[in-house]
Amino acid sequence: MKRVLVVYYSQSGDVTRAAESFTRYLNTPEVELNWECIKPKVDYPSPWSLYKFFDVFPECVNQEPPEIYPPKFSGDEKFDLVIIGYQVWFLAPSLPIQGFFKSKYAKVLKGTKVITLVVCRNMWHSASETIKKMIAEVGGIHIDNVVLTHQGSPLATFVTTPRLLLTGKKNRFLGFLPAAGVRDEDISALSRFGKRLANNLAALSNSSPQPMLKGLGAVEVNQRYVIPEVIGWVVYRPWAKIARFFGKQGSWSRIPIICIFAVQLVFAIPIVLIVSTAVQLLFAPLIHKKIASYVELLKAPSGVGEKSTITHPLK
Ligand SMILES: Cc1cc2nc3c(=O)[nH]c(=O)nc-3n(C[C@H](O)[C@H](O)[C@H](O)COP(=O)(O)O)c2cc1C
Repeated sequence: MKRVLVVYYSQSGDVTRAAESFTRYLNTPEVELNWECIKPKVDYPSPWSLYKFFDVFPECVNQEPPEIYPPKFSGDEKFDLVIIGYQVWFLAPSLPIQGFFKSKYAKVLKGTKVITLVVCRNMWHSASETIKKMIAEVGGIHIDNVVLTHQGSPLATFVTTPRLLLTGKKNRFLGFLPAAGVRDEDISALSRFGKRLANNLAALSNSSPQPMLKGLGAVEVNQRYVIPEVIGWVVYRPWAKIARFFGKQGSWSRIPIICIFAVQLVFAIPIVLIVSTAVQLLFAPLIHKKIASYVELLKAPSGVGEKSTITHPLK
């Protein structure tokens, strides 16, 4: 009997559905499947009000998560595998999931195989690297990473995802924009990963960091997003520090700075896209290698890259 723990958080239900599909083939007598929905002590109401949405930005980027309510498992309990289902908030793992990692319950990952399942609009690179670090810090053995992004082109999701987050509406929009969130077929196809695990349960017994989900298309990296996301992450950090200087989440004193951040973001996004396209065109021969190696890093551990020889493109 293998003990598997699924730790997750979800607002629209996309992460929940993804985790359920992922584990479909693990619902067997040989597996004891334990579900743990993380409950933060701070409420993040969905759909979001515009201000509350931007007000979580500094804490996301500065890694200042809320405390979480005690889960059903104890930190000392032993599992053969922990699957972490999470979403991206402002290029970082969502605050409830960060809250889990900062809690004493994250001890459950120590010496245990961990698979991450990230669901987001399309900008997951920084969050994924952050969560890899968090897993390493608590001594987890990160064996695989699976990425699922929203349906539609980047331009379409630029409208459909905020519409979903701010109004809760998921349906097709304006006659030509796709439904928001993840495509049902993509969710359903995640069961191939659980099937691979179910067919190799014995491999969960050893403590080898060997990936188990190679060759199943766990991660697809779109190189076009690498530079915009790196620029975004670099620009976000000082903004988050300044905003935090003006007060805590929910405080009146930081309303002006959060509003300024939100307004500048609207102008910054097209500028970042133009700058990153120019950088990619002008400096292609110089940055090609760095980008290629960063892509390998992003694909790891399920991808083919050798982690030790890879560096962040801006370091
Ligand atoms: C506050 C906030 C910030 C977000 N920031 C990002 C982001 O930086 N990159 C991204 O790809 N998606 C981002 N998203 C979109 C979510 O990751 C996406 O909607 C995900 O599917 C949510 O899953 P859930 O509804 O199951 O919680 C953000 C969502 C919220 C609420």
